[in-house]
Amino acid sequence: EAIEKSGHDHFMHKEIFEQPISIADCMRGRLNAEKGELTLGGIRNYAKALENAERIIIIACGTSWHAGLVAEYVFEDLCRIPVEVEYASEFRYRNPVIKEGDIVIAISQSGETADTLAAIELAKSKGAIVLGVVNTVGSSISRVSHEGAYLHAGPEIGVASTKAFTAQLTVLYMIALKAAFNKGTIAENRFREHLRELSLIPAKVEKALKTNDKIEEISDLFKNASNFLYLGRGYNFPVALEGALKLKEISYIHAEGYPAAEMKHGPIALIDENMPVVVIATRDSSYDKVVSNIQEVKARKGVVIAIVTEGDSLIPGMADFTIEVPATHESLMPLVSVIPLQLLSYHIAVMRGANVDQPRNLAKSVTVE
Ligand code: G6P
Repeated sequence: EAIEKSGHDHFMHKEIFEQPISIADCMRGRLNAEKGELTLGGIRNYAKALENAERIIIIACGTSWHAGLVAEYVFEDLCRIPVEVEYASEFRYRNPVIKEGDIVIAISQSGETADTLAAIELAKSKGAIVLGVVNTVGSSISRVSHEGAYLHAGPEIGVASTKAFTAQLTVLYMIALKAAFNKGTIAENRFREHLRELSLIPAKVEKALKTNDKIEEISDLFKNASNFLYLGRGYNFPVALEGALKLKEISYIHAEGYPAAEMKHGPIALIDENMPVVVIATRDSSYDKVVSNIQEVKARKGVVIAIVTEGDSLIPGMADFTIEVPATHESLMPLVSVIPLQLLSYHIAVMRGANVDQPRNLAKSVTVE
């Protein structure tokens, strides 16, 4: 096991730090930014069906569901196709409206999650076309899907998903980009610009990982907190959910992720000087609004840990702690902004003496309902 961890204390640590490579692996042989080429060999026969779909339903559980939420924004923006993101377990136990030819995208790291598998069978029985976005080659979900794209992220051992999440985002982004270009909802120059930006992500993730030491110091200050709130808007809203999930899973600290604007409809009541609030406040179209949300938290004496874009000069004057990540297109920011949140949960869990790789009550692959 020590050999498999290759010098890292935990698999989760290894997998967090592997992300520049796993994301690059995921694009290898598929994306060529210089030539402006993007090829997804696993989605051929149903590529047209995807482009012409009237709607897309995404089904997944856990972290994979969060990747689906980011994909919803990406597909709607790039392809102009309405998207619904469903928990597999909810989807299968109601009477979902699925029409012949609807596209279902099933996202799963393990490819074995029982609820996702059952939701796929249900969708197929109603005539939907299922595209699998799966990490484990030859897994049940990859076999029952009509077509799909593998993550190529390599095995993920830590129960809390990290590199699979960023690989899922990368693959989903490539699928959306390809469909949008073929469909004509984005022009060639925008297509090429997105390819270029995507190809720069591994280096940006590498840079985001350099926040590690600062995050370790911050973790030490908050390791005994009993609650955390995570806020984000737009593309960073699912990142807030994912950050909160990571903390819950491995450190057993209660954490909630919220769309920052919804804070006033509930969580704001919880804010006092004991409440650390992690705000993902990178420069994007909702930046000014997020800045106002930070002010609202500060006005109630909350402690703000802000994830900001490199060079931000406004937020450091307001937040208690700021962590800088490199700039990228806002739709790609989750790939970068999630990194400090993975590190935060990791360090807090280690400091609390928790079993990081195998948290209590959780399983890597949930093959029961
Ligand atoms: C479990 C794991 C999570 C994972 C979820 C979905 O709860 O602990 O890390 O996100 O299952 O798993 P899947 O393999 O379908 O992505």
